[in-house]
Amino acid sequence: MTKNKLARFAEMKTFPNVIEPEFQEVFDRDYRLKGRWHEAVFENDHPIVLELGCGKGEYTVNLARRYPDHNFIGIDIKGARMWRGAKTALEENIPNAIFLRTRIDFITSFFGKEEVKAIWVTFPDPQPKKARKRLISTKFLTYYQQFIQNNAAIHLKTDNPNIYRYMLAIIRENKINLLHAENDVHGSDNNQLNDIRKIQTFYEKQFLEDQKKIKYVAFTLDKHQKLKEPPDD
Ligand SMILES: C[S@@+](CC[C@H](N)C(=O)[O-])C[C@H]1O[C@@H](n2cnc3c(N)ncnc32)[C@H](O)[C@@H]1O
Repeated sequence: MTKNKLARFAEMKTFPNVIEPEFQEVFDRDYRLKGRWHEAVFENDHPIVLELGCGKGEYTVNLARRYPDHNFIGIDIKGARMWRGAKTALEENIPNAIFLRTRIDFITSFFGKEEVKAIWVTFPDPQPKKARKRLISTKFLTYYQQFIQNNAAIHLKTDNPNIYRYMLAIIRENKINLLHAENDVHGSDNNQLNDIRKIQTFYEKQFLEDQKKIKYVAFTLDKHQKLKEPPDD
């Protein structure tokens, strides 16, 4: 590990807006904050929005700036990336952006029934051979159903045509209520410049430099629906 990374990890331990649970605190058990984020962390009853695979947390920080009446939690396992978002939130005094360092595989240990209002998944790893590991697979959506408010909005941004197709296949297979699907967010000038879809993440900037088209999908998820995985294409 580089010196810089070590310094960031050490500094992050002192950040009041970063939560880094130990494995044994979440594996096969509920974390102490489950069902208590409003009272124990945010000290308000504003709706909670997650950014999954947040990396440096551009959505968490930008949305928190724009929507002070909502609470945002960026979640990722990579601490060195998360340091950036957490540091910015601290420097700018953004109280409604929090970071949680954990594997998203344990996410049901963290949130209680109806605790989350919406989810952003920003540039998930494509996992070409293991659909079930994708953060938008039916396996993960079934996890999210356990703690979202009914018909919560789920937002996906990706550069990856396979992930885009796969997301739309899940939506079709399960007759899910599609809100929006767009193949080239930055290419169309229908959108207003300040549209939240135009926020750019670290990976997104690199994909744009490589001339990739950024795709966006939004849908509402019925928390009671039993989801079927689409057939492989
Ligand atoms: C391609 S990067 C995108 C990062 C950021 N959203 C961006 O757009 O710049 C994918 C991120 O998802 C995180 N990730 C993937 N699977 C994860 C999992 N199961 N649990 C926690 N983090 C995960 C990785 O650590 C990585 O930071």
